[in-house]
Amino acid sequence: MTVPFVEMHNISKRFGAVVALRRVNLILQNGEVLGLVGDNAAGKSTLMKILSGAYTPDAGEILVEGTTMKFENPISARTAGIEMIYQDYALVPQLTVTQNIFLGREHMRRRFGVATLDNRRMDSEAGTMFQMLGLRVSSVTSPVQELSGGQQQAVAIARATAFDAKLVIMDEPTASLGVPAIAKVRETIVRLKQNDVAVIMISHRLEDVFSVADRVIVMKHGQVVGMRDVSDTATDEIVHMIVAGTDPRQPAAPDDPEPS
Ligand SMILES: Nc1ncnc2c1ncn2[C@@H]1O[C@H](COP(=O)(O)OP(=O)(O)OP(=O)(O)O)[C@@H](O)[C@H]1O
Ligand SMILES: [Mg+2]
Repeated sequence: MTVPFVEMHNISKRFGAVVALRRVNLILQNGEVLGLVGDNAAGKSTLMKILSGAYTPDAGEILVEGTTMKFENPISARTAGIEMIYQDYALVPQLTVTQNIFLGREHMRRRFGVATLDNRRMDSEAGTMFQMLGLRVSSVTSPVQELSGGQQQAVAIARATAFDAKLVIMDEPTASLGVPAIAKVRETIVRLKQNDVAVIMISHRLEDVFSVADRVIVMKHGQVVGMRDVSDTATDEIVHMIVAGTDPRQPAAPDDPEPS
């Protein structure tokens, strides 16, 4: 067995009186595509915000490639190769495509002894990134606010994958997109997987999960209900788990009469 890229052990998190996560476990291999599904308020986003350093857990442990990590902020998670794309993409509308991608990690060059932004290099690298990902934007020098939703998603994906990400987390990547843009997101996920980049996709759209994921985890009320290989389940079973909050393949509780 190879060491998993990520292991989350017994992660718990509460917000005041609300228990958002209760002893959640999750394991992810390199290059694996995992669908994370569940009803509203199941704890999906909270779990992924913990994995990407936006929240710290109250209890539990995160290991990356077998080493215990303490993510104090998104930068420390990013340094470990973990990037998260938020539902609203978290882009700066007035900045260009290139500026959004390189925000906070700009290339500089020295000109007559003075450090200036190396815009030409950044534009050119941004163009290459889109080509590699098979994504298209009108121009890397356009302000992001002039792009369509699908193109903004492409910029968010390029930004997330630009710097040696080993895991890209997408929170509802297809929720607000049209059919062609959804197809593009699916293609991009496949391409990331081919490059051995793992993807965790939170989605209410089971057809997206079934089309790209290797495995699916179902959550409810802050706990993991169950997990399936996508090749070994069907929409009906996943819907049952989401709604009932029980795993039909788990043995009955001890006080239930058991078939022998
Ligand atoms: N910052 C926060 N402050 C207070 N409560 C929060 C916060 N973030 C999440 N919660 C609560 O934690 C629980 C889990 O929320 P979370 O956003 O993780 O669910 P989700 O599975 O992502 O749901 P959805 O599918 O609606 O996005 C909910 O009860 C939510 O209200
Ligand atoms: Mg959510």
